[in-house]
Amino acid sequence: MSTHGEIKRVTTNTLQGMKQRGEKISMLTAYDFSMARIFDDAGIDVLLVGDSASNVMAGHETTLPITLDQMIYHAQSVVRGAGRSLIIVDMPFGSYQGNSKEALNSSIRIMKESGAHAIKLEGGEEVVESIKRIVSAGVPVMGHLGLTPQSIYKFGTYTVRAKEEAEAEKLVENARLLQEAGCFAIVLEKIPATLGKRVAEELKIPVIGIGAGKHVDGQVLVMHDMLGITKDFSPRFLRRYLNLYDDIKSATANYISDIKSKDFPNDQEQY
Ligand code: KIV
Repeated sequence: MSTHGEIKRVTTNTLQGMKQRGEKISMLTAYDFSMARIFDDAGIDVLLVGDSASNVMAGHETTLPITLDQMIYHAQSVVRGAGRSLIIVDMPFGSYQGNSKEALNSSIRIMKESGAHAIKLEGGEEVVESIKRIVSAGVPVMGHLGLTPQSIYKFGTYTVRAKEEAEAEKLVENARLLQEAGCFAIVLEKIPATLGKRVAEELKIPVIGIGAGKHVDGQVLVMHDMLGITKDFSPRFLRRYLNLYDDIKSATANYISDIKSKDFPNDQEQY
């Protein structure tokens, strides 16, 4: 449902046009109605219902445990809150790696049950067949290369990816394959800025970075990091725009104190 009447929805074509004009794309994660509404109202171009919900909403150590049903629940809430932004939903671990039919079915469930506009999945050549099948069913797909958190146990660390030449060449090759397979955009996570620049220059589709430097076509951050709700996560690429952890903590302490001191509620705050 649109909260903005006639405001025009951002589409995959809008993002393509932005890349061609050199206009940077803004993207944030969102997992619920209220935050989606605020971000949308502020003019964000893209909302990603990230599987980082597994970490920041559910408290898991990795993105692996979140289920397709849980992603759909988050996506439905975001869709109800945002009338302008393009809404992309992460395919969770285990919902697409089996085979391309499983991938197609999962993507169709997301689109049908949530009302979102596109899906995102992680990986290179190993997911190309699935991407082609999903795209041919009419579902826009965003790729994700570099640090791919669903494969954390394969790599064992969250360090910067593709620093070595061989891995960098492989990433460029995979980026080309994703474009050829029909992806409308890709995310590059935690790679050297020079490599981000090279991929963004080589690809015709938009390249959105998170820790991929300033030369890519747009930027994405996890909302809890951008707003300072997460306190202990401080990678170099993160810019915090608020310190909500401290602000919410001190507001909560004031609330507790007002109750204990019998200051709240006062005569005007009761019936
Ligand atoms: O799940 C997520 O939040 C993401 C972003 C980090 C791009 O995939």
